[in-house]
Amino acid sequence: MSQPPTFLSKTLNSTPSGNQRSAADGSSATSKTPLQAAPSSPLQGRFSAFPRTESPSAPAAPPASGLRSPLSSAPAPQPGQSFPVRATTGADTPAQSSRFSSARPASPGLLGEKTPARPFAKPNLPQSPFSRPQQTAPSPLRTPLTPSTAFRSQTAGTAPQATSPFRKELQVSDEEFLQLRDFIYKQCGIFIAENRKYLVENRLSNRIKALNLKSYHEYYNYLRYDASRGTELNKLFEVVTTNETSFFRNPPQLEIFQKNVMPGILDKCRSAGRKKLRIWSAGCSTGEEPYTLAIILHELLKGEIAGWDIKITANDLSAAVLAAAQRGVYNEYTLRTTPKNLVESYFLKDGQQYKILPEVKRLVAFGQINLNDKAQLQRVEKSQIVFCRNVIIYFDDEMKRKVISAFYDNLEINGALLIGHSESLHNISRAFHMEHHKGTIIYRKLG
Ligand SMILES: C[S@@+](CC[C@H](N)C(=O)[O-])C[C@H]1O[C@@H](n2cnc3c(N)ncnc32)[C@H](O)[C@@H]1O
Repeated sequence: MSQPPTFLSKTLNSTPSGNQRSAADGSSATSKTPLQAAPSSPLQGRFSAFPRTESPSAPAAPPASGLRSPLSSAPAPQPGQSFPVRATTGADTPAQSSRFSSARPASPGLLGEKTPARPFAKPNLPQSPFSRPQQTAPSPLRTPLTPSTAFRSQTAGTAPQATSPFRKELQVSDEEFLQLRDFIYKQCGIFIAENRKYLVENRLSNRIKALNLKSYHEYYNYLRYDASRGTELNKLFEVVTTNETSFFRNPPQLEIFQKNVMPGILDKCRSAGRKKLRIWSAGCSTGEEPYTLAIILHELLKGEIAGWDIKITANDLSAAVLAAAQRGVYNEYTLRTTPKNLVESYFLKDGQQYKILPEVKRLVAFGQINLNDKAQLQRVEKSQIVFCRNVIIYFDDEMKRKVISAFYDNLEINGALLIGHSESLHNISRAFHMEHHKGTIIYRKLG
């Protein structure tokens, strides 16, 4: 079938053009390319077979935590410019509309995501794609976090590594901990509770050694005053973020997305004669989430996809994970809940590695964005869908309100927000209409 001429498909690493996007929206994919031929995958249309397992790496519920001290007044070092939009300091505190405010005090801080099972250490137990994912009771003694993993190798989706060898040797004092904790919070909104001091030791001691510094206090001063503080801030972002992710994570939610959310949005576009789709994957880590969404769109639209103007804006704080996302090369572990036929259709297997196909890649535009930076969030193009899964669990209530409020503003009327299965907007926002589906809640922006 011949397709109408249009300017649809986006490529990575291209230049801005027209009204599609600009560098300011946080993406590195910036140009229009001529219409691409519709993919003719022999396996199209097989997506209804969602995997029967939930990801073993689903995050735990937020643990209870200790007190939060006032923010530090550190100056604002700038990170390096690996991507078009720099992660700037997040010092701005937007005024909250009443819909996003709450009389309740901020939630306790956290930095707790369940350690994923080692590959093949434990079989995935069969689970109905419609069953509600298990919620785990909050506990401050939850399984310790593993250090960020995705940026360690050229291939995304690796299993977590061991703790820092320097942790014992370099112990953080209470004062140093508070100083660094407040600095991190101010920069990116990630809040580390006081009972998670060991995380600071685990994640920052390597940096202190690498810079040949002697203490956490010296490291703090380095972050504030050194000429290389911008570069180091990016390193800090790498080590304080938890980047665990996988393709087709939380299949029940994705099934609702495919079968209940997208058809209405696509129909509305068709009947308006405007086949334009914008999706925002905020906190995209190494790219599995936005690429999953791109695969779902291919499965939904099939040959019709060539007639659509689609862009999935995928942002993260960490330049390292974004570099891995741009490469688009993955290992088997991160594909563990992806239906086999979709792996065959949308990846090129090369030895033990799986490379995402260009027809999927071109729908996604990666860029570095700090969710704590209101100005950066405002530059993201309006979306019909926002995915922000397993990200706000690392924020306190104040930061959650800022971010959720920005998503609300970004969404078009009837647009939908999807968050992680252990996350909730309770006490964060009453702006959205909650659509309860089996296994997930869709937060809808009504007119
Ligand atoms: C656990 S991963 C979730 C990845 C994916 N959304 C999923 O559910 O599989 C959380 C991601 O949020 C990112 N993140 C944390 N704080 C952020 C911030 N202030 N701005 C942007 N991204 C942030 C981290 O770098 C990390 O890659």
